[in-house]
Amino acid sequence: MVNVLVTGGAGFIGSNFVRYALDRHHDWRVTTLDKLTYAGRLENLQGVMEHPRHEFVKGDVADPGVAAPLAAAADVIVHFAAETHVDRAIMSAGEFITTDVYGTFVLLEAALQNPRLRRFVQISTDEVYGSISEGASLETDELKPRNPYSASKAGADRLAYSYWATYQVPVIITRASNNYGPYQFPEKIIPLFITNAIDDKPLPLYGDGLNERDWLHVGDHCRAIELLIDRGYPGEVYNVGGGNHVRNADLTRRILQLVGKPETLIQPVADRPGHDRRYSLDTSKLQAIGWHPQVPFEQGLDDTVSWYRRNEQWWRTIKDQDPEFRKYYERQYGGSAS
Ligand code: NAD
Ligand code: DAU
Repeated sequence: MVNVLVTGGAGFIGSNFVRYALDRHHDWRVTTLDKLTYAGRLENLQGVMEHPRHEFVKGDVADPGVAAPLAAAADVIVHFAAETHVDRAIMSAGEFITTDVYGTFVLLEAALQNPRLRRFVQISTDEVYGSISEGASLETDELKPRNPYSASKAGADRLAYSYWATYQVPVIITRASNNYGPYQFPEKIIPLFITNAIDDKPLPLYGDGLNERDWLHVGDHCRAIELLIDRGYPGEVYNVGGGNHVRNADLTRRILQLVGKPETLIQPVADRPGHDRRYSLDTSKLQAIGWHPQVPFEQGLDDTVSWYRRNEQWWRTIKDQDPEFRKYYERQYGGSAS
């Protein structure tokens, strides 16, 4: 059996990966380590919590008492655990440093003590390149993160690399573009706008709405990680991008069309401070080893809208009942978009 440790496996991408891994690899035993922050939810793992090849451990990656024994028993580590929302980092960055940077350090130290570890996949982000006005970022480009979230991820990205360069911990670094799909926490633009539209609430579009993101279906991201565990080279960085470049205003209109609601729900609001204008990735390095995105954006977005329609209970528990979310929403959007 291959022992796979997945940190942050109760979050959006992590839970999709755990489900995918158990389904695809009958010789993998998966351990999920997750602190269950506001973004980590056991409901995301429904259907696999009782799976005979899956174990869930509640704990903090930054706690060596929890992380070290799990890392010592792993053949493969996929490190998703992080604070992930840019707007929250702008409000208060402390947890981003503690989890994204220090937590990664703790896990790398633990990995260093495990001579049989085959892969340590550090899940980084395209945000580490910073905003680019044209062209596409290559893995060799300079890192120019511009907000506390992306700076913390850049720190973790380079720290992981240093454990390869210095100690030969078999680190692989992925830099993915914006993911979307089922179980994404409704603070991110796609699930927030779908669920607000369903409820006829305003869709708070930042600034002029012309910022551009490259959308990647979470299933395509999971397939990239699976391939890299098998065929990626230690010490290397791989961009993972869907190739779906969409401006926020266009995305918002598409969501409204799919939900069947009028464009009058769009509410222009003050811009995000330091808002990165555009990300775009060159993915030829990953494509050269056999990965291609399989989910067309129109189809993926349609499926995602359907998922949020079918799973109202999941997001209403967060949006309507969780006091933490209501407090965050009020602080972020004030009276303007409630
Ligand atoms: P998410 O916010 O949905 O989930 C994060 C998970 O990490 C949650 O389950 C949370 O409980 C857990 N966690 C947080 N702090 C922890 C700690 N100290 N110890 C253990 N668990 C902890 O995030 P996501 O969107 O699924 O992102 C997963 C990873 O992918 C992150 O590293 C993120 O930076 C990266 N990434 C995300 C995207 C995207 O578009 N969502 C794109 C590129 C890279
Ligand atoms: O690019 C990868 C990154 O994508 C990941 O590393 C991050 O973890 C993930 O959160 C995501 O970051 P973004 O800041 O790009 O995602 P978000 O959904 O917050 O915003 C997407 C775009 O939509 C961005 O240009 C800001 C805009 N936006 C967002 C929200 C929440 C709005 O206009 N209004 C909103 O209310």
